[in-house]
Amino acid sequence: MNPIDKEQSVALIGAGAIGLSLASACAQQGRQVIVCGGHQPIYHMTITEGDETRSWSVIHTDNPQDIMGIKTVILAVKAHQTSSAAQWIQAAADSTTTILVAQNGIEQRQRVAPYAGDSAIVPAVVYLNVERTRPGHAIMRRAGDHDLSVPNNPAGELIADGLIGGGMRVRTEEDFSRTAWLKLLVNLTANPLTALTGRRAEVICEPRINALAYLIMAEAQQVAQAEGVNLTPSDVDAELDWLMHVPVGSTSSMRQDRLAGRPLEYDALTGAVVRAAEKHHIEVPINRMILALLAAIRPGEQLQ
Ligand SMILES: NC(=O)c1ccc[n+]([C@@H]2O[C@H](COP(=O)([O-])OP(=O)(O)OC[C@H]3O[C@@H](n4cnc5c(N)ncnc54)[C@H](OP(=O)(O)O)[C@@H]3O)[C@@H](O)[C@H]2O)c1
Repeated sequence: MNPIDKEQSVALIGAGAIGLSLASACAQQGRQVIVCGGHQPIYHMTITEGDETRSWSVIHTDNPQDIMGIKTVILAVKAHQTSSAAQWIQAAADSTTTILVAQNGIEQRQRVAPYAGDSAIVPAVVYLNVERTRPGHAIMRRAGDHDLSVPNNPAGELIADGLIGGGMRVRTEEDFSRTAWLKLLVNLTANPLTALTGRRAEVICEPRINALAYLIMAEAQQVAQAEGVNLTPSDVDAELDWLMHVPVGSTSSMRQDRLAGRPLEYDALTGAVVRAAEKHHIEVPINRMILALLAAIRPGEQLQ
């Protein structure tokens, strides 16, 4: 392997749907992408958006030492896979490293901090809709007017600058916690309800499921307020209304994971709300029940 330029290169831990999309914006600006581990090595990443397909070569490594001293890391494993990637985060982490954590939920910092030493951790809210079709290949769809939100601080600005030049629409947020909780309201509802029922997004419009969706969000809104986050009942109404208007036939990543027999990313969503509720002694019976049901699912086990 040629020597890696640690200043310019980007380490990608988690070369899945979101990791490939974000890393491609770095590659688009001529930065070398180092893909770390994974079950299958990849040497190219290919992104299809609309009728355009682009490819970039990447370096693959199975040796964490190769990323020691690298300045930019994109961590995009699913939240429950974070501890399995600890050796990579630890190898890269020092006081000059910035780690973009592109994962759903509200606990990105706490999840990564045990492995990140003095690195700057940049949590992100991702609005892209991406499907990995095979190793190294992804189909990327954009919705709304931006693709990623990060906190408005020096590390967030650095990450934003590094992605915007490659075509990502990144917003730096003054009130990042509110942004993360708003996205959580939707994920907390759409993911479990579609995964548990096996139905697509239109199930949210059925009256009994719709009432349940409202209760899930309303409980979370109270917890957010206790956490000091500026979330109001009108945010619940707005997010539920948004969810009821997603295109018929839309699915969710948790439903897809359940159908494919993969572990579900429920702890970062429902688990996070229940944990925060416990901290503030708030009762969240609906989310607690949803958590119990999701935790009882055995990945890959068929109904018989
Ligand atoms: N996909 C979307 O549209 C979307 C939208 C918004 C937010 N998000 C969030 O973004 C995050 C990433 O989701 P995703 O859809 O990109 O997931 P994904 O496609 O499953 O990608 C995760 C990747 O991480 C790799 N990985 C797992 N453990 C690893 C380890 N220990 N070392 C190295 N690589 C490892 C997996 O590799 P193997 O396949 O080899 O195991 C896989 O390529 C999640 O929190 C998700 O909720 C996703």
